[in-house]
Amino acid sequence: MAVTTKDLATFFKKKGFIYPSSDIYGGVAGLYDYGHLGTKLKKNLEELWRKFFLGLDDNFFEIETANIMHENVFKASGHLENFTDPVAISESGHFERADHLLERALGKRFEGLTPKEMMDLIEKNKIKCPVSGTKIVDVKTVNMMFPVQLGVGTKNTGYLRPETAQSPYVNFKLQYELQRRKLPMGLALIGRAYRNEISPRNLTLRQREFTQAELQIFFDPSKITEHPDFDEIKAEKLNVLLVGDRDKVKTFQKMTTEALIKKDLPKFYVYYLAKIQQFYLKTLGIPEEKFRLYQLDDKEKAFYNKYHFDLEIELNEHGFTEIGGLHYRTDHDLSGHQRISGEKMEIHDEESGKKFIPHVLEISMGVDRLTYALLDLAYDGEAERGNIVLNLSPKLAPFLCAVFPLVKNKPEVVAKAREVYNLLKGGYSCFYDDSGSVGRRYARADEIGTSYCITVDFESLDDGCVTLRDLKTTKQERVKISELKNRLFGYYFA
Ligand code: GAP
Repeated sequence: MAVTTKDLATFFKKKGFIYPSSDIYGGVAGLYDYGHLGTKLKKNLEELWRKFFLGLDDNFFEIETANIMHENVFKASGHLENFTDPVAISESGHFERADHLLERALGKRFEGLTPKEMMDLIEKNKIKCPVSGTKIVDVKTVNMMFPVQLGVGTKNTGYLRPETAQSPYVNFKLQYELQRRKLPMGLALIGRAYRNEISPRNLTLRQREFTQAELQIFFDPSKITEHPDFDEIKAEKLNVLLVGDRDKVKTFQKMTTEALIKKDLPKFYVYYLAKIQQFYLKTLGIPEEKFRLYQLDDKEKAFYNKYHFDLEIELNEHGFTEIGGLHYRTDHDLSGHQRISGEKMEIHDEESGKKFIPHVLEISMGVDRLTYALLDLAYDGEAERGNIVLNLSPKLAPFLCAVFPLVKNKPEVVAKAREVYNLLKGGYSCFYDDSGSVGRRYARADEIGTSYCITVDFESLDDGCVTLRDLKTTKQERVKISELKNRLFGYYFA
């Protein structure tokens, strides 16, 4: 039976991955904390993201910025006016996301409709409030940002940023000077974003405070039809579902990068689509058939996008789910900030001699949604070995290895096991476990996705070898202690 969000919620809390925030006070809808294992997993994921995306170009750097921003930032970006969600209000006074209500009742996506269109559909299909069962009486839009009063006794209002993206945009001019006036220029940010979601649900899939990893690539729009490294990804086939193919193609089809270019997608954009797929499939090890690039139509696209593909992973309970996006935001944001701040965002490109406002391609990823997806895909509650197994990749697992003494009442075995543990713990995430039987220790290690278990036994004292057991296959082999580090290093980078 496929694992549900409810099963995962219980498991995450029991093991220390994720649990409700302010839990001793009953929790707060849409707010979650990461426990000791969840934090390790999330940090590993963020580190892989950094290595991969910052490694794409020498001129891509990470910045760290304030979470509360000036009100005018969101005037300029359009969030004050447009960052709204449709809300369905029932006779009983309950508020529910109107597009999600329609989606659940009618089984397809309903983004981009006007409130009136949504209300008409709700009435036509006699859809009732899912909580009280009463009639829906109105659909209207509400802004999703959190205002913050700045200082005491003032009327100064700031906003918790609803996306990390605005920080790189407002810092663009300064960073462009600091990064020696070179395009393309990338500013990456892994940080918190805040949205007053009407119906937060499904654990960390829809929260009110969450982490985004976003890379803003500023580039010359006249060069959108080229990318210097395009040949590197030319032979790749991408899992895509194009707008025009939704009725013909079930989940996605494999398309060459050339075929996508013939569909009027520029090379610069297709290059990053391919790189994103590489990250999900090769770096993270998402199964090929569970990942797709889903193109949005004009009504569904975010208000700032010209081209917009969602990056989706198929989850056990929820089917294909948006985890991130590749957004061609044009000069929407920089022009907006130029208009409202009076600060010139136009640059004078020394190489071409041209003056222009750079355009932006944004690679966006929800770190919490991706963490959830990785755990959802890794969770095996029906493994033959009789305990839960978390099939995480060694690069992501909270612990790469665990060291066990076969017995704990033989000082020589314990001393050897401690020696092995001390040898590994400096370079690898490793824990020591001597409680219960070795079988129980294997089970505990499996449940948190520990890639390798290392058991020190009596023979280790004579032959200098230990038993190395693989999480996924449960295969065991004898390995020399002197070779352990190299073996683990090899696995880690495989
Ligand atoms: N800067 C672009 C941007 O923010 P988005 O599609 O609104 O685009 C990007 O958000 C990603 O952030 C989503 O694909 C999703 O993974 C994550 N995300 C958005 N809202 C979220 C929420 N309420 N809870 C958890 N993750 C969320």
